[in-house]
Amino acid sequence: MKGPISPHGGKLVSRLLPPDVAQALKERLPLLKKLHLNEREVSDLELIGVGAFSPLEGFMGQEDYLSVVANMRLASGLPWSLPVTLSATTQEAAGLREGESVALLDETGRPRGVLHLEEKFSYVKAREAKEVYRTQDEAHPGVAALYRQREVLLGGKVDLLEPVQHPLFPRNYMPPSETRALFARLGWRRIVGFQTRNPVHRAHEYILKCALETMDGLFFHPLVGETKSDDIPAEVRMRCYEVLLAEHFPPGRVVLAILPAAMRYAGPREAIFHAIVRKNYGCTHLIVGRDHAGVGNYYGPFDAHHIFDEFQPGELGIEPLFFDNAFYCKVCGGMATIKTCRHDAQERVALSGTQVRAMLQEGKLPPPEFTRPEVARILLESTRGSS
Ligand code: ADX
Repeated sequence: MKGPISPHGGKLVSRLLPPDVAQALKERLPLLKKLHLNEREVSDLELIGVGAFSPLEGFMGQEDYLSVVANMRLASGLPWSLPVTLSATTQEAAGLREGESVALLDETGRPRGVLHLEEKFSYVKAREAKEVYRTQDEAHPGVAALYRQREVLLGGKVDLLEPVQHPLFPRNYMPPSETRALFARLGWRRIVGFQTRNPVHRAHEYILKCALETMDGLFFHPLVGETKSDDIPAEVRMRCYEVLLAEHFPPGRVVLAILPAAMRYAGPREAIFHAIVRKNYGCTHLIVGRDHAGVGNYYGPFDAHHIFDEFQPGELGIEPLFFDNAFYCKVCGGMATIKTCRHDAQERVALSGTQVRAMLQEGKLPPPEFTRPEVARILLESTRGSS
């Protein structure tokens, strides 16, 4: 491949206003009607603003929304697997007119952007749940978030007032324009992205290293936006990532940066979404392992692989790198999958998240075959600190 991978849709969107225009707009904000956004909507606004969701320039209108829900494509036919929407109550929506600009405030009341309202439309949450999440069960955290949304959707382009500044990880935040420039400076052409929302274990390390064997570089891109309450907090996870990369990866082969996006737990559909977003950051490949972006037992362990068959070769641009379930095998004396290990399942060291949490609660370190001791110690410390 010559040159960097094209952003999805061909052009990296920027809806971040230049400082002088943003300042002038801020002075006019008191004249605009206001809408409060929740944490996920704010992160969507930011990611649209910096081009991570290219080609989206705003929250989806009805045509795109219906097409995405039914066909995993925007109305233009371009692949897109998850709705990116902004909701309002019936009363809020009734107070807004198509064609007007609306100030978008975060939960603290700080103005973050402006919506140029193009359309208001109603939607059927149960249909979105069934198509996108493959379940209507409110115990599913993505479905629960959908059911909490307000009744009317507001579509239209947005403008972001200020560059994204992540309060917890200012050093690790980079917008797609910067990661693309960095990969070019590093001379990387084959770049594998890694999505994660969990502490990093040996299975992750194994698939990362397998991928890195055939790539120029690894873009380690943990999601640090809204996650469900029993997921490990991003501050703790970042310490795990930093120590693993410092102690167990060669320097100069990995870029660690955060993705300030919310987790949807939409399993297969979210794997496609994660691929498109990482393509916008400049990745040519994305790791998709076991139960990618899954939760509970809603998805089969490899549904997130099969869904890629629903797209024509080249349609997504970015290529998935599929991995089977990785484990430590005592007979092999190392990490493997069923593709490379011939020994009995009882020789494997494999622990569930629940088992690991229980060990940590009892003050025990998970075994080194499962988690590197440097990582295990961070998890133990944070469990002690929070109990
Ligand atoms: S995710 O919700 O972000 O997908 P997680 O952080 O656990 O969850 O996983 C990050 C990536 O590693 C995903 O692609 C996932 O499929 C993969 N993965 C996690 N554990 C394993 C495993 N034991 N074997 C193979 N792949 C795995």
